[in-house]
Amino acid sequence: MEIEQRSHAGARPGSGASPAGQTMRAVVQHRYGPPSVLEVSEVGLPLVGRGDVLVRVGAASVHPGDCFVMTGEPYLVRLAFGLRRPRHSIPGMDLAGVVTAVGTDVTTFRPGDEVFGWSTAGALAEYACVPAKNLAHVPAELPVEDAAAVPTSAITALQALRDIANVRPGQTVLITGASGGVGSFAVQIAKAFGAEVTGVCSTRNVDVVRSLGADHVIDYTTTDFTRDEGRFDVILDNVEAQPLADVRRALTPSGTLIPNSGRGGRWIGPLGRIAKARMLSGFTRQRLRPFTSIGKRQDLLTLADLLTTGQIVPLIDRTYPLHEAADALRYVAAGHTRGKVVITV
Ligand SMILES: NC(=O)c1ccc[n+]([C@@H]2O[C@H](COP(=O)([O-])OP(=O)(O)OC[C@H]3O[C@@H](n4cnc5c(N)ncnc54)[C@H](OP(=O)(O)O)[C@@H]3O)[C@@H](O)[C@H]2O)c1
Repeated sequence: MEIEQRSHAGARPGSGASPAGQTMRAVVQHRYGPPSVLEVSEVGLPLVGRGDVLVRVGAASVHPGDCFVMTGEPYLVRLAFGLRRPRHSIPGMDLAGVVTAVGTDVTTFRPGDEVFGWSTAGALAEYACVPAKNLAHVPAELPVEDAAAVPTSAITALQALRDIANVRPGQTVLITGASGGVGSFAVQIAKAFGAEVTGVCSTRNVDVVRSLGADHVIDYTTTDFTRDEGRFDVILDNVEAQPLADVRRALTPSGTLIPNSGRGGRWIGPLGRIAKARMLSGFTRQRLRPFTSIGKRQDLLTLADLLTTGQIVPLIDRTYPLHEAADALRYVAAGHTRGKVVITV
């Protein structure tokens, strides 16, 4: 079924506006706050614009960024997501499911296609409206939960290692938070690029990080990686538990350090650390490169290839049903996720 051209004006998902008066179950939040602000409610099906695809969501995944948007902290996120309350009442971004309708301009997808990608108007619902440019076909035989786990975390790992660090075969790459959402993909992608990979994680995750393909694993509860002076060509620091100066010590004289933790103060989050890294970068041969990942369909296609060849396999920690989405976000916010947290719809 192809949907007629429609305007989005006044038709926010969750607003109750639906062309056929159809409704769906969705997680909604009408104000910023802790996971208890989330509730499951019956809302109108989203309207589909010319370039959009209506996806029946099979699974969605959540990550620390979803927690920032849910709480509205750091306050900086409200500039993008709504000053006083969330602009979109349905939380979540990353999803996978089946196309049920497409806008008149969409030629890449048809009803019945299995797709994965990211919505900009909420994913924790039975249906999501997604711009076609944010979607790719799910590789054959990949379970919907695995596909939903991929988008933001794997794109971040890919862009950090390929575009920012330009990782080449034989280089030494260290990844902190190697057991987390970004880190578990980063270990596998760095291996796919031919690097010698060291993962940093806690004792309970040593075996799992090794199973992802890491050549070496450092248990941060017993060993401080910053004592390995000048050893790594690239460091992807997803945790930033140590001061920048200490981490730089472990980098080769012309190596690349990507500080990648989104955590920080209540107002501007990591911005202070980012500014410091950028400033320092002008005074050293080492490349200090904080970055913000950007959703690109081409990268989703690259990841689909890596999934097809088995070079990356999503690591799923827990799955929750839709009505337990608050528990899922509570778990992610605690910061000890092993791989990805998935919500099945
Ligand atoms: N630049 C961007 O555009 C971008 C995009 C996405 C995400 N991010 C940021 O990337 C960071 C990682 O995201 P994520 O989704 O991977 O988070 P996550 O899934 O919550 O994973 C964090 C992992 O770090 C481990 N960990 C905690 N303390 C550690 C330490 N001292 N050393 C090594 N590992 C430690 C945790 O396990 P244990 O506690 O069991 O050790 C957990 O497995 C977040 O801060 C997020 O905001 C940035």
